[in-house]
Amino acid sequence: MTDMRKQGAERHPRTAVVTGAGRGIGRAVALILAQRGLNVVVNYASSAEPAREVVAACEQCGVQALAVQADVADHNQAKALIESAVERFGSVDVLVNNAGITRDGLLVKMTPEDFEAVVRVNLEGTFNCLKHAGRQMLKQRAGAIVNIASIVGVVGNAGQVNYAASKAGVIGMTKTAAKELARRGVRVNAVAPGFIDTDMTRALSDKARTQLEQQVLLGRLGRPEDVAAAVAFLASDEAAYITGQVLCVDGGIAL
Ligand code: NAI
Repeated sequence: MTDMRKQGAERHPRTAVVTGAGRGIGRAVALILAQRGLNVVVNYASSAEPAREVVAACEQCGVQALAVQADVADHNQAKALIESAVERFGSVDVLVNNAGITRDGLLVKMTPEDFEAVVRVNLEGTFNCLKHAGRQMLKQRAGAIVNIASIVGVVGNAGQVNYAASKAGVIGMTKTAAKELARRGVRVNAVAPGFIDTDMTRALSDKARTQLEQQVLLGRLGRPEDVAAAVAFLASDEAAYITGQVLCVDGGIAL
């Protein structure tokens, strides 16, 4: 990095793009990055109001924030999302690929539509944003990308063949992108959460929830903030020598 670039980096706050940031883990990630002084682009798929609330909460931290609607599974919309971040803030220094969905069902009953829908958002959506933010970060010769995978992509889970395939794919993509981008100062890591208390897991029955809690070594479901702290670490300069890794944030359930 030249002296001028260094000075520039010190002058301008860094910018993060967080996908699916209107609620849950994405919301917690947007907030912790804002607390750490990054400008935040809050991506949402369809509900504008919660995204605007996240923007307002980020601005309370003294940074700038922008809500951008984009379906990350659509290549052109993902491209436009990254472009709008560059247009507004001049750079994309951190990308958090968080947007994700589930369409659970046993293997023999799963419809091709449910398989494709999950792979399109979780895997292709991550690819789309990774590709366009990666190109921008290569130009900048700096950047940090954190992909939200899942322990289900590491150890599997009955009833989630589509989701497990998508998240295992995200892990393979993370390692490959890390190898391709490292020489130009861009790091790519994944966080693999266990069971986190969000809208995604709220459909669990009380019985299933209690059973799960008993399996977690630390004795409770995770909170969005537990995941956000790991993401913030991997996105920060404290993780400057870490790339291509998968950090499990699962209370020890996968051990
Ligand atoms: P959530 O359902 O509360 O949030 C997901 C967010 O992604 C929502 O805001 C949703 O609107 C957005 N989204 C969905 N499709 C989108 C699209 N095509 N384009 C843009 N945004 C889109 O779920 P949660 O729990 O916060 O999940 C966040 C990430 O963490 C997901 O990738 C999920 O797979 C992953 N994860 C969650 C776990 C959990 O136990 N909650 C465990 C492991 C991983």
